[in-house]
Amino acid sequence: MDVQEDAVIEAAGLTKVFKDFWGRPKAKAVNGLDFTVKKGEVFGLLGPNGSGKSTTIKMLLGLLYPSRGALQIFNKSPRDVKTKQRIGYLPEETYLYKYLSAGETIDFFGSLFQLSGAEKKKRTQQLLEMVGLKNAGKRSVGEFSKGMARRVGLAQALVNDPDLIILDEPTSGLDPVGCREVKNLIKTLAERGKTVILSSHLLADVEDVVDRVVVLYGGKIRAQGTTDELLLVEDKTTITTPKMSKDVLDRVLKILHEEYSAEDMEITHPRLDLESFFLDVVKRARTESADTAGAESGEVAEYLKSSEKQVSEMAEKVIAGDVDEEKLAAAKAEKEASEKLATMVNAPEPEVAEEPEQAEAKQEVNTEALSSLVEESPEEVSEESAAEEKEKASEKDLSEANENLKKLLGGD
Ligand SMILES: Nc1ncnc2c1ncn2[C@@H]1O[C@H](COP(=O)(O)OP(=O)(O)OP(=O)(O)O)[C@@H](O)[C@H]1O
Ligand SMILES: [Mg+2]
Repeated sequence: MDVQEDAVIEAAGLTKVFKDFWGRPKAKAVNGLDFTVKKGEVFGLLGPNGSGKSTTIKMLLGLLYPSRGALQIFNKSPRDVKTKQRIGYLPEETYLYKYLSAGETIDFFGSLFQLSGAEKKKRTQQLLEMVGLKNAGKRSVGEFSKGMARRVGLAQALVNDPDLIILDEPTSGLDPVGCREVKNLIKTLAERGKTVILSSHLLADVEDVVDRVVVLYGGKIRAQGTTDELLLVEDKTTITTPKMSKDVLDRVLKILHEEYSAEDMEITHPRLDLESFFLDVVKRARTESADTAGAESGEVAEYLKSSEKQVSEMAEKVIAGDVDEEKLAAAKAEKEASEKLATMVNAPEPEVAEEPEQAEAKQEVNTEALSSLVEESPEEVSEESAAEEKEKASEKDLSEANENLKKLLGGD
């Protein structure tokens, strides 16, 4: 196998056959996978249920032996102890000891990596804040919802500040806000030079975060490439402009019809995707009920911000005359860019041990706030109907334009 300099994972002919009690082949879960993951890349293992994603991940972690093929992580065997220390793993199911609190759970995983007491405490606090569980840190995880348990799982996967983060279905059980947060976190980690490999069968959940994907089916790679390579429709063009007047639209159509037939063209208004719409609704609800929205998730944990360390180290070198100012400025610019990325969507967080009546009262306030979003005030109604009329007028314009186009081209 060629050893590539910046390759974090190299798999060649990777195969796993599960055998039955008598040693007869039972299931060929993974069948001859060839792929490479480079440093700083977000790599997606996509595929339907049973396609071999978790089996591949377990081989990457050294939990399963490959039946055939070669696999190297950081140019070493996945079973190498030093390699394991550089990996963070979020399992498909979050297995947590239900009598430990969220804080104790993270602290426990910190102990496995022999972190000092002070370092464990610092990281635990930062991670709890980052995943939006600061106020629930003392509650036992047995009481947590699926999404909250997932967040603890994610925090424990990062406690050792890993270089390679392996996430099996990271968005499963998370609401769209949590899902967005996880994606932002993944992007930030990759920006900071970490390598992330994630699996998912919810393609839309990961589409905007992965750099490169393999699509598995029946244990084999069926497609592989960057999202642009796989998803770009190269033989079509979209032009987005401010809303066109009827006159401009007619003129544009006149030019277009000289080149293309009516069937090959479509004029529409762009649509928001449901995720952006949902996040916008939640954002508005949060501003309107800021006092009842609970605590908010924090930024990426300080100790995970390696570029920060680099800037201060470099500043020291400048003082010592080792590094030129230009390099420092570039590092600062990189840090600023990373910080921008680190800005996460803030999620509401459950309060610590609330009395049932209090919880109910809060629920009422929240419901009121939400219903006030839905009930329209008189001005909102008139604004809304004006918008509706505009909408109708523009639909009419569009259908007239399409009609004109057909007439021009002699269609029926
Ligand atoms: N321990 C095992 N013994 C026998 N067969 C197994 C074992 N683990 C997995 N398999 C089989 O291997 C195939 C791939 O399973 P795997 O768990 O890797 O799929 P997956 O892509 O992660 O699916 P999902 O989306 O449901 O998590 C399936 O047919 C499964 O039944
Ligand atoms: Mg799986």
